[in-house]
Amino acid sequence: VLSQAKVMLVGCGSMGLAMIKGWASAGVGDKHYTIVTPHESSVMPLRAICDISWYASPQDLPRHDHPDLVVLAVKPQSMDKVLKDYKTYATQGAIMISVAAGRSLDSYRPYLGETAKLIRVMPNLPVAYNKGMTFGYACPSIESLDLSLAHELFSCLGKMLWLESEPLFDPASALSGCGPAYLYLLADSLTQAGIKAGLEPDIAETLARQTMIGAGVLLDHTTDSAQILKKKVASPGGVTEAALQVLEHPETGLPSLMINAINAAVKRSRELANG
Ligand SMILES: NC(=O)c1ccc[n+]([C@@H]2O[C@H](COP(=O)([O-])OP(=O)(O)OC[C@H]3O[C@@H](n4cnc5c(N)ncnc54)[C@H](OP(=O)(O)O)[C@@H]3O)[C@@H](O)[C@H]2O)c1
Repeated sequence: VLSQAKVMLVGCGSMGLAMIKGWASAGVGDKHYTIVTPHESSVMPLRAICDISWYASPQDLPRHDHPDLVVLAVKPQSMDKVLKDYKTYATQGAIMISVAAGRSLDSYRPYLGETAKLIRVMPNLPVAYNKGMTFGYACPSIESLDLSLAHELFSCLGKMLWLESEPLFDPASALSGCGPAYLYLLADSLTQAGIKAGLEPDIAETLARQTMIGAGVLLDHTTDSAQILKKKVASPGGVTEAALQVLEHPETGLPSLMINAINAAVKRSRELANG
C-alpha cells in the first residue's frame, strides 16, 4: 500500500529532506513526491534519488492533485500562515500529518476543519538513513486504516510508536527529538578529552566517532539493556570502571545531569506550546 501512497511534503528543510531520503530508500510512493517549498534549491539534493514534482507555492499545485498524505514540515511559527492553503486536501480526506514541535493537534482544527484526519508526529534526523525514532499521537476519531498507513509511513524510517496522550509529547521530544544533539555533544566531549589526554585531534576524533557508531550498532543488534552492555565493557576494578565512577557520581555524574537536562527541555517545550 505504501508504495502506491501519494505523499505531499510541505516544507523541505532539514527534516523534510531527511524524511524524503528515508522514504525514497524504502520505495514509498514509488519514489515520487510532490513537494511545496519556496526554493527549488531545497529539493535539488533529492533529484538524484527520486522523482520530485516541485512547487514554490500551493497556488501552483495542479487542481487534480489528490494526495493520500500531506506532511507539514515547516517551522512551527510559519504553520499558521501555511495551513489555510491545505484545507482543501484535509476536506478531500487526505491524512494531515504535522512534524512541528510544540503545536497541539487542537491548534490545527481552526485551519484544517473539524473533520480533518489529524496526526502529530516527532521524528528525528536519522530518518534519512531509516534509523530514525518517531513517535506520534493521532486525533481519537481517526480510522484504523488511516492510522496504519501513517504507522507504515514512519515505521519504514526506523521505529515508530504511538503515545497514549498528547502531553507525553514534551518528555518524549526531550528524549528522542532532541536526543541526537546530546549524543553529538558526547562525541565532541570524548574527542576534546582525548586531545587533553595527549592524542592528536584527528586521532581523537576518529576514535570518538567510530566508537559512538560501533556502540550504536551493538545496541541495534541486541536485546540487552544499555545497563547490561555497559557491564560487558567494564570489568570490576578495571580501567573503564575508573572512568564510570566519575561519570556515575551520585551528585555530579551524568545520570543526575541528564535528569536536569531533560527537565529543562520539557519545561521549554511546554513554554513554547503555550506561546
Ligand atoms: N530538525 C529537526 O531535527 C526536527 C526534529 C523534529 C521535528 N522538527 C520539526 O520539523 C519542522 C521543520 O524543521 P526543520 O528543522 O526542517 O526547519 P527548516 O530547515 O527551517 O525547514 C523549514 C522549511 O520550510 C520551508 N518553508 C518556509 N515557508 C514555507 C511555506 N510557506 N510553504 C512551504 N515551505 C515553506 C523553508 O523554505 P526556505 O528555507 O527555502 O525558506 C524550509 O525549507 C519544524 O516544525 C520542526 O519543529 C525538526
